[in-house]
Amino acid sequence: MKKILIIYGSRFGSTAEISEKISEYLNKEGFTTTLMNLKDKSSKKKLKIDDFDGILIGSGIKIGSWTKEAKKFLKENTKALKQKENLLGIYVSCGEAMNPNKCEVAREKYIDPILNQYGLSPGLKQAFGGVLDLSENSTLGFLNKKMMELASKEDPNIMKGKRNDFRNWEQIFEFAKNFASHVK
Ligand SMILES: Cc1cc2nc3c(=O)[nH]c(=O)nc-3n(C[C@H](O)[C@H](O)[C@H](O)COP(=O)(O)O)c2cc1C
Repeated sequence: MKKILIIYGSRFGSTAEISEKISEYLNKEGFTTTLMNLKDKSSKKKLKIDDFDGILIGSGIKIGSWTKEAKKFLKENTKALKQKENLLGIYVSCGEAMNPNKCEVAREKYIDPILNQYGLSPGLKQAFGGVLDLSENSTLGFLNKKMMELASKEDPNIMKGKRNDFRNWEQIFEFAKNFASHVK
């Protein structure tokens, strides 16, 4: 059985859920996946990239940036990842990609610069829409929520006071399917 590592950084849970769904999909397709949240202690153990046939790395975006743990993972594993570029997939979850026409722009903004920084050219990369939770029960915290309310003030697609989920599960499963055919 081919082994896939899915490792991610998520501040508010959206990338975590995307990663879980990708893992479930790949398990159903007959792969053995290791799903790892970079905030968990278990991820601090030295992982051997070479033990995996495919690697997926995901991050949520806040003010243009990946999570610090996801950036650190790329930095610390650049050499090993470079040797498996074809079997590497990168994804982000961000507000910008809520509009399917903006996914390319979002990739150029939030994926390409960091890949260029580390000289990586993965087989697959994609930007997915994220979640903007402006509801009463939002776990964003006061400042983050205020920031998002201000940033989205003029945007008719974002419902004030509501949880806005812009993840396109079809797009996400299509990405997982493409990745599976890369690794097979
Ligand atoms: C404070 C804050 C700043 C954000 N900044 C950006 C941004 O610069 N660009 C963008 O496209 N999305 C931005 N977003 C939207 C997030 O990328 C989106 O909510 C994503 O789903 C977060 O992923 P996570 O839940 O895995 O952390 C921001 C969200 C918050 C709360």
